[in-house]
Amino acid sequence: MLVNSKKMLQKAKKENQVVFQFNINNLEWTRCILEECDRLKVPVILGASEGAIKYMGGYDVVASICFSLISDLNIKTDVCLHLDHGSSVESCKQAIDAGFNSVMIDTSHLPLKDNIEKVQEVVSYAKNANVSVEAEIGSMGQINQEGLSIGTNANLKDTLTFVKETGIDSVAPSVGTVHGIYKGKLNIDYKLIKELATSLKVPLVLHGGSGLDLEILKKCKEAGITKININSDIQEAWSKSVKEYLKTNSEVIDPRKIIGSGFKAIKDMVAAKININN
Ligand code: 13P
Repeated sequence: MLVNSKKMLQKAKKENQVVFQFNINNLEWTRCILEECDRLKVPVILGASEGAIKYMGGYDVVASICFSLISDLNIKTDVCLHLDHGSSVESCKQAIDAGFNSVMIDTSHLPLKDNIEKVQEVVSYAKNANVSVEAEIGSMGQINQEGLSIGTNANLKDTLTFVKETGIDSVAPSVGTVHGIYKGKLNIDYKLIKELATSLKVPLVLHGGSGLDLEILKKCKEAGITKININSDIQEAWSKSVKEYLKTNSEVIDPRKIIGSGFKAIKDMVAAKININN
């Protein structure tokens, strides 16, 4: 069933479980993630970035792919279609108008006051459409020469103000992770996660979940993270598998066989992440 992320995340927070956002890149990605989450009977958030949406053809295309797969494949588990890192109020509105159940507005690069104002605009539009809103505070790090994340982590006081003033349904505070395959030394602020999780009613979101050992993901969960975003790990797993297939099947031209040779890798990666809940 299609739902917004509010209830599924509130329930997960209460039960100290994690709901995963797996990013989608095309129809096949979407299908693999839906089938695996349905098989495992877990709720899932399908994250579509602006780049992926552009690649697939637009907001309506993404919504149609997602909704049609749920219907044609008879997917029973709860599914939320979510705009990942919406860069403007406008793109959030486009997603909402296309039927997305959830949006993330990422104006975290702005000063707190301006960030709050932008997020408020999205929240008031989203509330009317029963769409949940996630927003980011702090800035996610990059890997520097010493291999450390050097973003600016969120702080307790500003995050409390941010959540209170905006009325968002979930918050993504920068806590030391980075997007992409994390090869640097870890610098995750578990103390901050714990403080935020106990002080806030809204669920906490961890961006940049790829490249982190399952033990680290579990530690984040135990500290109080409710939603974890995964993109690059699935991309890496799929592309490794396809490259391997092509090594011994270089004569194959059927795109279904080439693209399909990575399906198991996508599903295995999805299942491995979800397993941190057990
Ligand atoms: P990764 O690419 O590190 O998995 O990050 C995904 C993400 O945070 C999407 O918002």
